[in-house]
Amino acid sequence: MIVNCKIIDFPKIVDPRGNLTFIEGGRHIPFEIQRVYYLYDVPGGAERGGHAHKELQQLIIAMSGSFDIVLNDGYEQKRYHLNRSYYGLYICPMIWREIDNFSSGSVCMVLASTFYDEADYYRNYHEFIANVRLESDESTIY
Ligand code: TYD
Repeated sequence: MIVNCKIIDFPKIVDPRGNLTFIEGGRHIPFEIQRVYYLYDVPGGAERGGHAHKELQQLIIAMSGSFDIVLNDGYEQKRYHLNRSYYGLYICPMIWREIDNFSSGSVCMVLASTFYDEADYYRNYHEFIANVRLESDESTIY
């Protein structure tokens, strides 16, 4: 659900020599970090994402430059603009995401709760929506 996704502010040690931010898995973010990956050299007008994850939790940070992330839980859609390296967007499982509007030279860093596993992806939007409906039917109390 989108309500479980949120912007998280990280500690910022302000210093005239340059600021420092740190992130501790399980403390500043609600999962242990098992993988880090980043997008860079993104050409103008490109779009990334376009998928959802069954179990994976992620935290996305604009380490440099800026970009937008559009989240969709099958019921609601929300656009976030990330442009600072001292906060990030936490994304829980079962959220369709698109990343676009990359500024030139931007770097998108992702902290992930599990190793890469293609079986954890929904790459087809209709399949994702069908499974969102299935989960919400299963959780309905009659
Ligand atoms: P994908 O997750 O689709 O990228 P994005 O969401 O940024 O558009 O991954 C693109 C390709 O990279 C795909 O072939 C899988 C591969 N990949 C890995 O091998 N390991 C990883 O940790 C990630 C994130 C992707």
